[in-house]
Amino acid sequence: MTTPRKLHVKTLGCQMNVYDSQRIADVLAQSHGLAATDDPAEADVLLLNTCSIREKAQEKVFSELGAWWHAYKQARPEVIIGVGGCVASQEGERLRARAPYVDLVFGPQTIHRLPLLLNQAQGRRAAVDVSFPEIEKFDHLPLPRATGPTAFVSIMEGCSKYCSFCVVPYTRGEEFSRPLLDVLTEIAVYTEQGVREVTLLGQNVNAYRGATPRGGVADLAELIGQAAQIDALARIRFTTSHPVEFTDSLIVAYADQPKLAPHLHLPVQSGSDRILRAMKRGHTAAEYLAKIERVRAARPDLSLTTDIIVGFPGETEDDFAATLALVEAAGFDEAFSFIYSARPGTPAAALADDTPAEVKKARLARLQALIERQSKAYAAALVGSVQTVLVEGPAKRGEGQLHGRLGNNRVVNFAGPEPLTGHLVDIQITAASAHTLRGEPVGSRHAA
Ligand code: 5AD
Ligand code: SF4
Repeated sequence: MTTPRKLHVKTLGCQMNVYDSQRIADVLAQSHGLAATDDPAEADVLLLNTCSIREKAQEKVFSELGAWWHAYKQARPEVIIGVGGCVASQEGERLRARAPYVDLVFGPQTIHRLPLLLNQAQGRRAAVDVSFPEIEKFDHLPLPRATGPTAFVSIMEGCSKYCSFCVVPYTRGEEFSRPLLDVLTEIAVYTEQGVREVTLLGQNVNAYRGATPRGGVADLAELIGQAAQIDALARIRFTTSHPVEFTDSLIVAYADQPKLAPHLHLPVQSGSDRILRAMKRGHTAAEYLAKIERVRAARPDLSLTTDIIVGFPGETEDDFAATLALVEAAGFDEAFSFIYSARPGTPAAALADDTPAEVKKARLARLQALIERQSKAYAAALVGSVQTVLVEGPAKRGEGQLHGRLGNNRVVNFAGPEPLTGHLVDIQITAASAHTLRGEPVGSRHAA
């Protein structure tokens, strides 16, 4: 048996998976000395971190696995192929029936057991562990390694909201929060490695209730307040939020906490009260608008983004019109929109869905055209302004070009030397397209 040396992890899906993939690389570097590679052809261990939020994402898993098998494992049978994430969690052992060449299957809550599973797989025994051993995962991971000036930090796992369309509570389990000190320690470990911005992650992040050392409980606003006291940390973001859990303490944090970025991603899913009820979202369109009004009052430069589902079972033309009206009224500057996809095991999957696919597609196109218009208008309004930008590194295209992010999460490209990476720079925005900005530095400053 040859000793594996290189690991390739491919991530599908959300930022939680991006975080988990990073931790997978940390774990296997420590246990097996595996070096991460971006090139699957040179990897001895190939892991696919999967997503099952919509059917399309799930289908991608099997086409990707088949491609890996053909390209790598047929010629080198010692290559290990593993599947993690939400599809693994949902399918477990069944996954191997459809893709028998898969050697190991692990869930979002068992990445800390990967060293054991990998040993098992190397011994040619199929290794499957998709259990939910709760908080144990975080207690058994090595200290994280930064890969740049920004980092994701998972502060809670799972979701207990059970929106009727959503598979997450079943694949990631019920909510549980990491203790406050664990999260703060992880942020401090990152900042010691040059990280300037963290994004606090959870499926329902404002339900965070972290145990404090003195036996109390900290909410998200308190966590943000404590993290802000870490001098080297310049910016704090969080995602994703649920409107019902969006508490007053968080609104106060937008007013009082300058390190909290002026951006809020608050999924609304629909603008129709009837559909919101069927989705079990627990609020009306008017309640959503009232809430964002209060956040905007606390932080007037707030950029607001959202998620929307089109074609939920029973959605009528009137329901859809209400969604368009809400998108305009809320003034979203960006939105992710999806056609409803029935997920096995969710309550909505049992509802009659008689809207034809073409009607759903046409609605999605109308919605996306509206969002695009709002997004362009928002970007155009930034031209001429000077914005503080955290430099993230060289731009994808163009020699001597850097890219960074504004507080509102928009990406800007500009000319500058690479050592500016990790610094806050004031940039005048000179041009805007729907998704990226161009700018020119007007002097750099190093925030303490
Ligand atoms: N079908 C379509 N979109 C979905 N989402 C979640 N579940 C489904 C589904 N079954 C969308 C929601 C959520 C985002 C991450 O994915 O808009 O906010
Ligand atoms: Fe899914 Fe989000 Fe609803 Fe939780 S709050 S069930 S993750 S859509």
